[in-house]
Amino acid sequence: TKKITNICCIGAGYVGGPTMSVIAQKCPDIKVTVVDLNQARIDAWNDPDTENIPVYEPGLDKVVAEARGRNLFFSTDVDKAIDEAEMIFISVNTPTKTYGSGKGMAADLKYIELCARQIARVSKTDKIVVEKSTLPVRTAEAVKSILLNTGNGVNYQILSNPEFLAEGTAIEDLHAPDRVLIGGDTTEEGQEAIQALVDVYARWVPRERILTTNLWSSELSKLTANAFLAQRVSSINSLSELCEHTGADVSEVARSIGTDSRIGPKFLKSSVGFGGSCFQKDILNLVYIARSYGLREVADYWEQVIIMNDHQKRRFANKIVKTLYNTVSGKKIAFLGWAFKKDTNDTRESAAIYVADDLLHEQAGIAVYDPKVPESQVYEDLNYLNSRPGDINKQLVTVITDPYEACKDAHAIAILTEWDEFKDYDWQRIFDNMKKPAFVFDGRTLLNVKQLREIGFKVYTIGRE
Ligand code: NAI
Repeated sequence: TKKITNICCIGAGYVGGPTMSVIAQKCPDIKVTVVDLNQARIDAWNDPDTENIPVYEPGLDKVVAEARGRNLFFSTDVDKAIDEAEMIFISVNTPTKTYGSGKGMAADLKYIELCARQIARVSKTDKIVVEKSTLPVRTAEAVKSILLNTGNGVNYQILSNPEFLAEGTAIEDLHAPDRVLIGGDTTEEGQEAIQALVDVYARWVPRERILTTNLWSSELSKLTANAFLAQRVSSINSLSELCEHTGADVSEVARSIGTDSRIGPKFLKSSVGFGGSCFQKDILNLVYIARSYGLREVADYWEQVIIMNDHQKRRFANKIVKTLYNTVSGKKIAFLGWAFKKDTNDTRESAAIYVADDLLHEQAGIAVYDPKVPESQVYEDLNYLNSRPGDINKQLVTVITDPYEACKDAHAIAILTEWDEFKDYDWQRIFDNMKKPAFVFDGRTLLNVKQLREIGFKVYTIGRE
C-alpha cells in the first residue's frame, strides 16, 4: 500500500486540533496541516505561547510545542493544503439543524458538503478522504456522489474514522485509545485505503486495537457509542430522583451496581445532566434517522434519554427556587463552573447554561466563576438561547475571576462543573461571607457534605434525601 507522507485536516476545532497534533507528534515523517476558515482560531493555534491555543486540554500545549513548525502546521489556506495532501480528514462541525426539515433533530451537513465540493474542485491527484466528524449513517454516500462526479480523472476513496476521544482527557485518549475504528469500502481499493490509515495509527496504537469495518457500520457505531454512554447517565439520573424520595443514596446505589462486571463502574455518576456538543446532537440524529425509516419504537426509546436529561437540568433549577423559599428574584446565586465538564474550556450544551436560564426567568442574579471559561463565552451562551435581550443577561449575570468574590454575599452556591479545585476551597471563609442560611446545591456530588454541614451550610446533593 501507499505510504502516506502528507495529511490535511479541514476543521481546527476540539477534534481536528488535538487529533492532528497527536498524529504529527507520533509520525514525524508525515507533514500534517490543519486548516480552518476561522482566521482567529488559526492565529490562536499559531500563538508562540502554547498557553494561548484555542482548545484547553491537559497536555495538549506540550504536544503542540513539540510538533508545531516541525511537521505540524495550522493555516487558513485550505486549497493549498488539500492540493498537497494524499489523505484529507474532514473534521468540521455537524450541529443539529436549526431550520427547515429535520429542524432540531437532524445533523446539518452543509459544512461537510462544502468540504466535499472544495476537495472536488481543488484536487488534481488521488485522495483518501476520511470522515472524522460524527456523521449520520450513509453520509459517505453523499460525499462519494459529490467527489465521484467531478469527471477530472481523480480517484477518491472515502473512509469513516470516527473520533472517540473525551474532552478533558483528549490527549490521554489519543495516546492510548480503547480502539481506533476505520470503515471503508469492501473493494480492493477500499481495503488499500483502510490499510494506509491503519499504518498511520499503527505507529503507536497496538494493531489489535485498530478495528476495521464497512463504511456504514463505522458511521453508525459512533452514534451508537454516544447513545449508550448518554443512556447510562440518564439511567442513573432517573434513579437519583427516586433516591431523593426514598432515603437511598444514588452514589451508594451506583457503587453497588458498578461492581457487577456486566455493568461496570464507569459513567454511573449522577449529576445535573450531561452536556457537551455531542451526546444530545448525536442522539437526536439517531432518533431522526430511526424515524425516517419509520422505526417509531426505536426512535421513542432513544429520545427518552434526552427527555430525562432535560428533566434533570430543570429539576435542579426548580430545587434551588423551591429551597430558597420559592423566590430567587433579586437574590445572588453563585455558579461554580460553567464548562460542560472539568478540564475543558468547552461550554457547548453545558447544563450550567440551562440552569442559569431557568433561574434568570425567576429574576435571579447570577455570579459565575469558571477557571477556564472567559466572560464573553458566558454571555454568548446565554444570548444564543434568545430567552431575553442581551443587555438583560448582562445586567443579571456577572462573570468573576475570583471564586471567593463570586460567592461573597450569595444566598446560594450551585456547583455546575466538577473542577477539582472546588473541593480544596476554604469553605469556612466562603460560609462566613455568605447570606444566611447559606445554601449549597451540589449538582456534581463533588463536595464533602459532612464537612460543609459542620461549617453550617445547608446542602442539597443530587440523589440524596
Ligand atoms: P468545532 O466546532 O470545535 O470545530 C469545527 C471547525 O471546523 C471550526 O473551527 C470551523 O470553523 C471549521 N470549519 C467548518 N467548515 C469549514 C470549512 N468548510 N472549511 C474549513 N473549516 C471549516 O467542532 P468539534 O468539536 O471539533 O467537532 C467536529 C466534529 O467531530 C463534529 O462532527 C463532532 O460531532 C465530532 N466529534 C466531536 C467530539 C468532541 O469531543 N468535541 C468527539 C468526537 C467527535
